[in-house]
Amino acid sequence: MTDAVIQVTDLQKSFTGKKGARTAVLKGVYFEVRRGEIFALLGSNGAGKTTTVRILSTVLKADGGSAQVCGYDVARQADKVRERISLTGQFAAVDGMLTGRENLLLIARLRGVADPANLADGLLERFGLAGAAHRRADTYSGGMTRRLDIAMSLVGSPTVLFLDEPTTGLDPEARLAVWQTARELADGGTTILLTTQYLEEAEQLAQRIAILHDGRIIANGTLGELEELLPPAKEEYVIRRPTLEEVFLAIINAQQGGVAGQGGTVWQGGAAEQGGTTRQSDAIRQDATARQDGATMQSSATRQNSAYPDRRAVL
Ligand SMILES: Nc1ncnc2c1ncn2[C@@H]1O[C@H](COP(=O)(O)OP(=O)(O)OP(=O)(O)O)[C@@H](O)[C@H]1O
Ligand SMILES: [Mg+2]
Repeated sequence: MTDAVIQVTDLQKSFTGKKGARTAVLKGVYFEVRRGEIFALLGSNGAGKTTTVRILSTVLKADGGSAQVCGYDVARQADKVRERISLTGQFAAVDGMLTGRENLLLIARLRGVADPANLADGLLERFGLAGAAHRRADTYSGGMTRRLDIAMSLVGSPTVLFLDEPTTGLDPEARLAVWQTARELADGGTTILLTTQYLEEAEQLAQRIAILHDGRIIANGTLGELEELLPPAKEEYVIRRPTLEEVFLAIINAQQGGVAGQGGTVWQGGAAEQGGTTRQSDAIRQDATARQDGATMQSSATRQNSAYPDRRAVL
C-alpha cells in the first residue's frame, strides 16, 4: 500500500483532428503523487500536460487506462473526486463582471463553506487584493487576476490542488507569492500537481519532477535523480564577452589605481594627449587580465568558468 494520493496507470487519450484523423496525445502515462508532495509535470507545448490535468480533475474522459485521486476513480466516482480537488486552469476562471470579493463569495457558497464572508476577506488579505476587493475583476491586471484565481481555488481547503501553469504572466514578485503559498499548502498536507514551462519553478517547488514527451513519461524523479541521468559534470572553460557591469567595474578599478598602483594617476594627469587613451585601455585590459588569472585559479572547483569572475571576486 503506497501513500499515493494521485495514481495514474496507462492513461490514454486521443483527439480527432480537423480531417477526422485521430491523434494520440497520451499513449500510456504512469505516475504517482504522494500526500503533501508538490509534483511537477513538465513537457513542451502540446505534450499533453493540460489534457492530463483535465482528466485527473474529471473535466475530460480518458480513452483508456485509469486514474485514482484520493482513492476514487476519476471516471466512475467523479463526484467524490470533485469534492476533494480544486483546479486552477491555464486560463483564469474569474468572472470579470463580479468584484474580487464576489468571485470568492460565489465559490465559497457553491462549496458550502460555513462563513463565506470571513473566508473571502482572509483570502483577499493573503493574496494582496484587499484594496481591490470591491473592484470588478475585469479591471484587474493580469497578475491580480491570476492571484484571485488561485485564491478561489483554495476555497474549501481541497486535499488535492491542480495548478496548470499557475505563474504564467506573473511578475517576479507575484510569482514568489504563489510559490510561497504552494509551499505553505504542501506543508499543511495539500497534495499539488503543478504544470509549468518555467524549469526554475519546478526546481524551486517540486519534490519530484516528471517529463511528459511523445505521449509518455520519459523521466520521473527528484531533481538529484534527474541530474544523475546526465553524464558526470565536467570542467570546462567558457570565454565570453564581458558584461557592461564588468567593463564598468574594470574602468572604476583602473581609475582608482587598482592596477600597478599607478595607471589611474597617469591617465588622469593628462600626461599626454597621445598616450592617455592607450594607457587607459592598457590599464583596463591589465585589470581584466588580472581578473582572468584570478578566475583561472579559482576554476578548479567550479563546473564552468569564465574569464570574468563574479562581482564579489572583483571587489
Ligand atoms: N479538445 C481538443 N480537441 C482536439 N485536440 C486537442 C484538444 N485538447 C487538446 N488537444 C491537443 O492535444 C495536444 C495536447 O494539448 P495540451 O493542451 O494537453 O498540451 P500542453 O502540454 O498543456 O501544452 P501547453 O504547454 O501549450 O499548455 C495538443 O496537440 C492539442 O492541440
Ligand atoms: Mg497546457
